[in-house]
Amino acid sequence: MSGKLVIYPGTFDPITNGHISLISRALKIFDKLVVAILNNHKKVPLFSLDERMAMLKEVLKGYPNVEIDTFKGLLVDYVLQKKSNVIIRGLRALSDFEYEFQMALMNRKLKQEVQSVFLMTDYKWFYTSSTIIKEAASMNGDISGLVPPVVCRKVKEKYGFPDVPNKSK
Ligand code: PNS
Repeated sequence: MSGKLVIYPGTFDPITNGHISLISRALKIFDKLVVAILNNHKKVPLFSLDERMAMLKEVLKGYPNVEIDTFKGLLVDYVLQKKSNVIIRGLRALSDFEYEFQMALMNRKLKQEVQSVFLMTDYKWFYTSSTIIKEAASMNGDISGLVPPVVCRKVKEKYGFPDVPNKSK
C-alpha cells in the first residue's frame, strides 16, 4: 500500500483500550500503521510474544491498514527497514513525558531522519497503563472497560481468576 506509514512501537503486555484509541486516531493522520512489538525486553512480560501477537491480531482485525509485527534491536533501524521515518507514541500523565522525551532525543541522535510524533491520550485513559491494569487484575480487580473483553479474559486466566462479569455496573 502506498501512503504515509507510521510505526507504533511498544511492549503491549497487554494491549489496552488506550493503545487502541491511539491507533484509531493515528490512522486519521497516517495511511498505514505498523504495531511493532519489542522482542527483547529487559522485563519479563506476562504474555509471551506469540500471545501478544495473537491478542493484537484479534483486537485489531477490523483495521485493514494496520500490520502487527515484532522487532529486535534499535527501533530506529527497524523504522528505516520498514521504509518509514515516523514513530508514534502516546502521552499520558506528566510522568510519561521525561521517558518519552529521552527516548525521542536518543532516537533522533541515532538517526536524524526519523521523527517522533506524540498524540495526547484520550482523557479516559490518562491514568491507565498495561502495568497498573495487570496489578489490579493480579488481585482480582475489575479491569473491564480498560482492555478489550478478549484481553480481559486472557489477563484473568493468567492470574487464575475466572472471568465473571461485574454485576455492579
Ligand atoms: O511500551 P514500552 O515498554 O514503553 O515501549 C518501549 C519501546 C519498545 C518503545 C522502547 O523500549 C524501544 O524502542 N526499545 C528498542 C531499543 C531502542 O531502540 N531504544 C531506544 C533508544 S536507546
